[in-house]
Formats: sequence, C-alpha cells, structure tokens
Amino acid sequence: MDIKNIESSVVKLQNLDMNFYKKKGIFSQPQVVNALHEINFSINKGEVVILVGESGSGKTTMANVIAGLLKPTAGTYEFNGNNINSLTKEQYKEYRNSIQMIQQDSYAALNPMRTMIKSLGDPMLLKKYVNKKDLYDKVSELLETVELTPTDHFIDKYSHQLSGGQRQRMLIARAISMNPELILADEPVSMIDVSLRVAILNLIARLNQERNIAVLYITHDLATARYVGKNGRIAVMYLGTIVETGNVQEVLADPKHPYLRALLSAVPIPDPRLSRMRKKLMITSADLPSITNLPTGCRFHTRCIYCKDICKTQEPKPVQHGSSVVACHLVNELPKFELYEKDAVGLTEDLYA
Ligand SMILES: Nc1ncnc2c1ncn2[C@@H]1O[C@H](COP(=O)(O)OP(=O)(O)OP(=O)(O)O)[C@@H](O)[C@H]1O
Ligand SMILES: [Mg+2]
Repeated sequence: MDIKNIESSVVKLQNLDMNFYKKKGIFSQPQVVNALHEINFSINKGEVVILVGESGSGKTTMANVIAGLLKPTAGTYEFNGNNINSLTKEQYKEYRNSIQMIQQDSYAALNPMRTMIKSLGDPMLLKKYVNKKDLYDKVSELLETVELTPTDHFIDKYSHQLSGGQRQRMLIARAISMNPELILADEPVSMIDVSLRVAILNLIARLNQERNIAVLYITHDLATARYVGKNGRIAVMYLGTIVETGNVQEVLADPKHPYLRALLSAVPIPDPRLSRMRKKLMITSADLPSITNLPTGCRFHTRCIYCKDICKTQEPKPVQHGSSVVACHLVNELPKFELYEKDAVGLTEDLYA
C-alpha cells in the first residue's frame, strides 16, 4: 500500500506516568518505582516507531501500558481518538484485539501442548473470525504469509519442533490473525541466531507496508533501530523519560541529546583505525542511577559530560529543535557531534548487509 493515512493516531499518550510499588519487608514503607514519567507519545496509523534505551529505561513497561496489560498511574491514553477509560465493553474488546504483541521469548509465549493449527486456530474460532470448515485453509494462509512453507509440514507441529526463528514467525502469524492495527514487537530477534534476524525484520517491515499495520519496535540496538525504522520515527528513552524523538535517519545523523550521543559513542566500530580515532565514551559514569532514588532535575545529569547547575535542579521539558523534539536544557549550546562517532551506526549496519 503506497498511500498511508498517517494523520490520525492509533495510540496517544499524554503526560502519562506509571509507578510500581516495591516492598522490601512486611513493615517497611513501599518504595516507588517511577518507571514512566510524563510520557507524551503517539503512534500514527501505519507508522513504524522505534523505541530505544538501555535496560531498565521503561521500554517494556511502555509496551505493556499500550497493550492494556498495565493501568497507568497518571495521564491520559487515547486509542483511535477515544479515551481508554470511556470505551464501551465492545470498544474495549476491539482495542485489546487491535494491539498485538510479539514477545522476545517465543518459547515461553507458545503453549508446548498445542500444535500450530490449535495455537493459531482456537483464538480465531473463539472470536468467530473463521468457521471450522475454513480453519485449515485460513491457518495455511497465515503460515504462508509468515513464510512457514510448505504449510502442510508446519501445521501439525508443536512449538518445540520448531527453531527459534520459526517460532518467532509463528508469533507473528498469531499476531496478524487478529487483524491488528498495531503490533508491539519487544526485542523480537534478540534470542535468535544473527543469521536469521534480518529475515524476521524484513517480514515485520513487509507486514507494515502491505497491510498498513503500525509497528512499535523495541530494541536497545541502534543498528537494528536504523534498519527497521528506515522511514519511521525513533523515541529514545532514559530512566522512564523520552529524551529525544524524530525521524530515525535524521535523529541518528544529527543526534542532539547527550544521552543519545553517549549511546552512539558506545557502539563498537569494527575498524580498529576508526575505533582508535574515536573519542572516549561520552558519559561520566557507566552506572545507571537507582530507579528508586532518581536524580533531581534532568534524570541524565549524573552521567552527562555537559551537565550545568540548571540540569541538577530543573527538569527539562521536551522542545522542538529542528525536526526533532529534545528534552535538554543545553540543546542550543552543545558542540557539534563528531563524524566518527555517528559513523559507528553506519558501520555496524554492515551486520545486516
Ligand atoms: N512489576 C514491576 N514491579 C516493580 N518494578 C518494575 C516492574 N516492572 C518493571 N519494573 C521496573 O521498571 C523499570 C523499567 O523496566 P522495563 O522492564 O520497562 O525496562 P526495559 O527498558 O524494558 O528493560 P530491558 O531492556 O532490560 O528489557 C525497571 O527499573 C524495572 O525494574
Ligand atoms: Mg524490556
């Protein structure tokens, strides 16, 4: 499909917070884990959005909130323009169906006692998307779409009889069987062999293009981000906040936020000459602050090489800067980002060549 309607959002989050409460002992006060903080984020129809950030930055929490598995502590969540809290029972069902997840661990996500036809067929029968007579053909068609062919070979297999890449395709088939508007793919290739990854990434890209399914692709790997999000947007997360968003190519070619620059400077460069030329890692500390004792002001200030006094006390609000939206007090005074640091992403992209 060439013309995409990307004017209206499937999902829109405004000033959204998600807190968890952790208790150490029976008599202790629970500790607050502010896993998402003042999130303003939307996914438009048919769009690909990449969510990147290191471990613990809140990526999975965000996906769980979007999928309706977690109820946000504060803020608003709109699905197709309707507040999630005002949906009728029917609309709520439609919302839950329209957003499907592809998990990282395909082994855990599939029932080992069920064959492919049962795993794919039962939910469709239950939702009356298909009748018993047409089930075999419908499941075969789904297997064909995700390139599990010859389909007769796969239809009666159990999940343990499939390889990691095949199981991941099976999860994709299960997701699309519900005719979703949005697929949430949470590190879907991190547990499969490198040689099989690119085919899965291409399959997700094809479903986006052919069926206009929006995709939220979660990864901590910038090379994958660039590959999957060729024409999409990126949102960079740090400790529960979104620090930079914009077009993937533009953001990676001209990163503004010091955290994104640090991430780029940490990408390994296979060329030893370029690697030696490169500046040191652009952070003051490798340690992530504790999520239960977050820094005041900008959450990144304790590791930021550009940190000034204002960063320690005042939280930066996201502002438009060129074509990106950046949450950094110093965005107008940062030095230019050096070429050999950003080259790192281009070079590691060779992995997917
Ligand atoms: N149910 C929970 N109870 C308490 N804390 C939680 C819960 N779920 C997540 N957290 C905390 O919220 C923060 C964000 O976690 P999340 O799993 O969303 O991170 P992530 O970006 O997906 O990390 P990873 O890359 O490791 O998957 C972490 O500090 C995590 O420990
Ligand atoms: Mg996660």
